[in-house]
Amino acid sequence: MAKYRICSIEGDGIGHEVIPATRRMLEAAGFDAEYVDAEAGYEYYLDHGTSVPQATYDAVENTHATLFGAATSPTGEKPPGFSGAIRHLRQKYGLYANVRPTKTRPVPGAYENVDLVIVRENTQGLYVEQERRYGDTAIADTVITGEASLRIGKYAAELAMKRDKRLTVVHKANVLPVTQGLFLNTILDHCKTVEGLSVSTMIVDNAAMQLVRNPRQFDVMVMTNMFGDILSDLAAGLVGGLGIAASGNVGDKFGIFESVHGSAPDIAGQGISNPTATMLAAVLMLDELGDHETAKRIDNAVNKVLTEGPRTRDLGGTAGTKEFTDAVIAAL
Ligand code: NAI
Ligand code: MG
Repeated sequence: MAKYRICSIEGDGIGHEVIPATRRMLEAAGFDAEYVDAEAGYEYYLDHGTSVPQATYDAVENTHATLFGAATSPTGEKPPGFSGAIRHLRQKYGLYANVRPTKTRPVPGAYENVDLVIVRENTQGLYVEQERRYGDTAIADTVITGEASLRIGKYAAELAMKRDKRLTVVHKANVLPVTQGLFLNTILDHCKTVEGLSVSTMIVDNAAMQLVRNPRQFDVMVMTNMFGDILSDLAAGLVGGLGIAASGNVGDKFGIFESVHGSAPDIAGQGISNPTATMLAAVLMLDELGDHETAKRIDNAVNKVLTEGPRTRDLGGTAGTKEFTDAVIAAL
């Protein structure tokens, strides 16, 4: 019997390319796993009227971790019964921390020596998806609780203590003192109890500018859901783009590991997507599972191929998904 059971969800679009590529790479790396295939996303919804079937809940609950490709959320009015698959899973399983490491990789155009982590609160804020419209007026609720702010603040502070012991709390409490203020003050109160942690605060618009001007000033950054969604794409752009940005959705019981990117409908089905982001999500998953040796080997092999090529098109090369994956496997 394999040591680990992994739930594998391709989802939509390039999820059908990057997940098989990552699994082929994991097998070559000797990761001792048995996979449970599960479905979720917009394509599944169009065929079945729901975006996450019961069998997928069972698979997530009965495995050690989940590897997720990408899911489409159509823009515009939501089709009846539809909810975005990944947001739905994050909320259902209380995957409250979305951890997005941003580290310089050997690719053209990347800022040098960036090594920061964005910790995004993953269950609340504007992404509770409570919107309504009265005639010409549209309203969206933003929900922040002290409990969830404390939970994410603790997670971020603990992570910072394992790294460079620096935490920046990003907020907009100047305009939204009630919701953003609760988030900010709850975390600041908690941080007073963490000995040795250096804490700073930054208003989100300045944080966007500071990230572009001098990302090296940051170690761990914590923020509410939408700010984390936006700034983590920005941060990905500093070090090579969405093709290489990975993330983990973690809670007390389950973890779902995925790229930062979406289903990329503009390139889906062409075999040219960059599987690096999902491979690095698998590295985060292995580290979470405690298989640090395999994680490190994969990370090194990916870096070797990013340095020497072949590179995929998003990084200025000409390789397709398969050629890149073959090269990573050879480098292993
Ligand atoms: P996207 O992240 O799918 O793509 C943005 C741009 O980056 C596109 O030009 C795409 O071709 C490129 N790109 C993304 N991943 C790439 C890869 N691995 N290799 C090469 N190029 C890559 O964002 P977009 O287009 O705004 O959204 C598409 C759909 O994905 C939407 O329905 C959106 O809701 C969904 N989405 C889902 C996410 C998730 O499942 N966690 C995250 C972000 C978006
Ligand atoms: Mg996003």
